[in-house]
Amino acid sequence: MSRFVPFSLPDNLKLGCATAATQIEGGDKNNSWYAWSQTKGHIKDGSSPFRANQHWQLYDEDLQLMSEMGIRDYRFGIEWSRIEPSEGVFDDKAMGHYRAEILRMIQYGIHPLVTLHHFSNPIWFEEMGAFETRESVGFFRRYAAYVVSHLSDLCTDYVTINEPNVYAVNGYVFGSWPPGEKSLLMSFKVMKNLTLCHLHAYRDIHALYGAKVVRVGFANHLRVFIPYGKNPVYACQVLIMKYLFQGALTKSMSTGKFAFPIGCTAPLGKGRYYDYIGINYYSRSVIKNFKERDLPDRIKNDLGWDIYPEGLSILCNEQYKKYQAPIWITENGTCDKEDQFRSAYIYDHLRQITDGKLPVERYYHWTFMDNFEWAEGESAPFGLVKCDFETQERTVRRSGRFYSELICRQKVTPDMIELYLNDSPT
Ligand code: BGC
Repeated sequence: MSRFVPFSLPDNLKLGCATAATQIEGGDKNNSWYAWSQTKGHIKDGSSPFRANQHWQLYDEDLQLMSEMGIRDYRFGIEWSRIEPSEGVFDDKAMGHYRAEILRMIQYGIHPLVTLHHFSNPIWFEEMGAFETRESVGFFRRYAAYVVSHLSDLCTDYVTINEPNVYAVNGYVFGSWPPGEKSLLMSFKVMKNLTLCHLHAYRDIHALYGAKVVRVGFANHLRVFIPYGKNPVYACQVLIMKYLFQGALTKSMSTGKFAFPIGCTAPLGKGRYYDYIGINYYSRSVIKNFKERDLPDRIKNDLGWDIYPEGLSILCNEQYKKYQAPIWITENGTCDKEDQFRSAYIYDHLRQITDGKLPVERYYHWTFMDNFEWAEGESAPFGLVKCDFETQERTVRRSGRFYSELICRQKVTPDMIELYLNDSPT
C-alpha cells in the first residue's frame, strides 16, 4: 500500500518559488561572495557566483519557463552591489534592469516578492566592516529606501533581510562564510545591527507607501532542535541553542524589544514589525554537547540534512501562537541531485500545512533552478529545474513537473501519486 494519499490544497494557499540574486544572476564581481570565492578552499568546487545561471541576461527565458510551469508567485532578490557599486553612488541603469524584469514578471502573471538583502554585500560595505558596525544601519536604510522608492508602483511585498541568524552564525561563529570570523560576541553584535536594519526598513517602507497596501517582513531561518537521546543535560543544551540561534533574534526582529544577548532596550519602541510570519524551513538539529549529531536510520538529503517534515508544522504552530499573522513559507526545499526524493519532500511538507488550522497563505519552494549554493558552489542542486552551468541549458526535473501539476490542479490526485511519488525511497 502506498503511504501517499490524495489531498487538496486550500484555495487560498499560493505555491511559488524562491531564488536569491547572488545565487543566480552571475556577472557581478563587486560583491562579498565573489571576493570570498577567490580564495582557494572557500568554495567546495572552486566555482564562483560570477557564472551562476547568467540570469541577469537570461531572465526573460527563466520567467517564461516559470510561467509555463504555472508558477504565479516568485520571491527573488536585488543585488545591493549592483545598485550601489560604490558608497553613495546609485546605478539607475541597474535599477532599471530590475524594473524591466519585474514588469516582465507581471506580464507573465507572476506576483513578485522582493528580497532586499540575501547574504551578500557590496565590497565597499564589506570592507568597512559590514553589519559589525552601527553605521551599517544608515547605509542599509539608504539603499533600501532607494530600491523601494523605485519599485513602489510595481511591488507590494518585501523581505527586508534573509536569515539574519544564518548570516551571523556562518560568517562570525563558524567562519565558513565571509568574513570568516570566529567570535560569538561579534555574531551577537551583527544580529543586533541586522535587527536595527530590519526595524528601520519596516518603518521606512510603510512610511513610503503611506496608505497604499504593502506587506513587509523578514525571512527567518527556523530549525527544530531536539536532544540526542533522553539525557536531560542535552535537553537543556537544546533550549540554550534554540534561544541563541533563533529565539532571541525572532523576538527582537518581530517586536522591536531587543532580547538578551542581542540587547535589552527597544530603541525604536515596542511594536509589531512584520505583516506576515516569514519562515525558511529545511531541517532539524539533534544536539549532544552543543554539537549536531546524526540520528541513524533517518532519511537525509545529499548534504546530510535530516528530512523532517513534521518540523514545518511544529514551527508554524509555535510562531503563529506567538506572533499571530498570516504565514508565508519563504523557503523550503532540498538538495537532491538525482531528483529521487524531492517530489516526496514537497508532498510531505505541504501535507503538514494544509490541514487548514493555520493561515498559511504562501509557500515558496527553494528553489526554481540549481544555482550557486554559497560554500557548496555549483555542487548542490536544489532546483525544480536542472541547470547545466556549462551550456546554461535548463531542464525541468520530474519534481518540477509534479510541482507544476500541483499548482495547476491545487491537489494531489491518485494519478499524480502513481506518476511522481510511488517510487520515492521510504
Ligand atoms: C538560504 C538559501 C540557500 C538555502 C539552501 C537558505 O538558508 O536562504 O540562500 O540556498 O538555504 O542551503
